[in-house]
Amino acid sequence: MIRKAIIPAAGLGTRMLPATKAIPKELLTIVNKPVIQYVVEEAIESGITEILIVISRNKTALQDHFAKSFPNEDFYEQKGKTEVLNALKGISGDCEIEYIEQHELNGLGDAIHHGKEFAGTEPFAVLLGDTICESDTALPILAQLIDCYNRFGSSVTAIEQVPLENVSRYGIMGGEQVGKGIFQVNEWVEKPQPEVAPSQLAIASRYVFTAPIFDALEKIGRGVNNELQLTDAMKLLLNTEAMYGLQIAGRRFDVGNPQDFIKTNIHFGLKHHEFGEEFRRWLEEVIKE
Ligand code: UTP
Repeated sequence: MIRKAIIPAAGLGTRMLPATKAIPKELLTIVNKPVIQYVVEEAIESGITEILIVISRNKTALQDHFAKSFPNEDFYEQKGKTEVLNALKGISGDCEIEYIEQHELNGLGDAIHHGKEFAGTEPFAVLLGDTICESDTALPILAQLIDCYNRFGSSVTAIEQVPLENVSRYGIMGGEQVGKGIFQVNEWVEKPQPEVAPSQLAIASRYVFTAPIFDALEKIGRGVNNELQLTDAMKLLLNTEAMYGLQIAGRRFDVGNPQDFIKTNIHFGLKHHEFGEEFRRWLEEVIKE
């Protein structure tokens, strides 16, 4: 059973400057909900009951977001404004959220290593805090990974097919298909050029790891950008453990760059239950102009 999840959210958000000068990029909103709340909701809907969010010193607003909003909650409770109260509470369900500070931004691998004590010897999930995953089925994307983990008992990484010209933006897997949408991985390559990429199957920001990933993170040296790269530790883990890639039934939205941020807002705006249809008509008019 996977109960714990680590959400790395300490990065600088350079690509979203100046928005991220004072506001963590994970708190930027897609329609009216911060990105990180989509991520936490996906975790909770996938059965996670303990979350560790890795933050940096200037990102304590993330803690404020999930803290009890006093005295506003009491105010709306007394007035019987259930809908407002629910929106204010943000997340529902039983889930504990802890925080740890990454003092130096030494990369994603280092951020996850900060969860070593939190995870202990249990397998755990990782969800990147600046990426929303939307499922095409009733199962959230992380729940799809957890199902796959329960079947194989080894680390599972979410995978998404990307156009050949985009492979150099992602970690790419090489491997053999062993089931519907399931691959046994034999190679991870970080940001390959299209001509040497082993496939067009890119890592899609959700993972389930077994505890030995921490040993691997302790063995790797600094890699690309002089950072501890998670992909380097995943390569090492391949020597001791079978790893699987699961092609997700859905899609990911990386909201850490302006263009994808706008696209994601439009996507979720068009699907909005109250004003989606009206927004669509407005957008069609704008495009015609
Ligand atoms: P990114 O590389 O997309 O985030 O990391 P970034 O560093 O904020 O991006 P730019 O280049 O400055 O715009 C992917 C995820 O890993 C986290 C980020 O917060 C993001 O959720 N991360 C990255 C950390 O927690 N610590 C790090 O040292 C680096």
